[in-house]
Amino acid sequence: MRVTYLGHSAFQVETHGKSILIDPYLEGNPKAAADPKKIDAHLILVTHAHGDHLGDAITISKRTGAPVMAVYEVANYCEQQGARTIDGHIGGVNKLPFCEVKYFPAFHGSTTNDGVSLGMPCSYVLTVEGKHIFHAGDTSLFGDMSLIGDEFALDMALLPIGGHYTMGIDDAVRAQRRLRAKVVVPMHYSTWESINADPQEFEAKIASQGIGRCQVLRPGERFEL
Ligand code: NI
Ligand code: MN
Repeated sequence: MRVTYLGHSAFQVETHGKSILIDPYLEGNPKAAADPKKIDAHLILVTHAHGDHLGDAITISKRTGAPVMAVYEVANYCEQQGARTIDGHIGGVNKLPFCEVKYFPAFHGSTTNDGVSLGMPCSYVLTVEGKHIFHAGDTSLFGDMSLIGDEFALDMALLPIGGHYTMGIDDAVRAQRRLRAKVVVPMHYSTWESINADPQEFEAKIASQGIGRCQVLRPGERFEL
């Protein structure tokens, strides 16, 4: 399986000819590493309705036919805009032939660009080829991340480090201590000045505490998992 960082909090997971997008904010994303008009998709996970996460999900769904998977309120909104959808909610699991997705909490908001508040944001554990990837969405640190680490032997955790709207570096290190992922990848930083952060500082802190391996990915960079 291949994990590609598309910039900000956007990732592509490729498995046996299927393309799974997570938070595909590409149009208007200064760090975007893919063209929303060309990227292939068979499933689109969205953590919450903020524009830098919902992003191009609806237009990519309309072009490719890939369903947008999100909590009930966000899925409903996407369906009204003409997207195919699969809904669920925190605590639930969606099973597809090529992956399994479990919804977990995130402490944040979930309002669309036009001001509609769409329930609770979420994070996900995506299971592909027997490997578990945690995408934290936008969130603060919370103690129940320990429960996620207890339930899954995580192969990868994608964690925001930019601060201001989410965890910063030190809280992301605390999160990784609870999640205990084999590989941790920083995201949601340095897209704009307000969330500037140094991924090398995060990498050094993970290394000095001996809690897994930090893999800093440049936008467009791929990782074989
Ligand atoms: Ni957000
Ligand atoms: Mn965000």
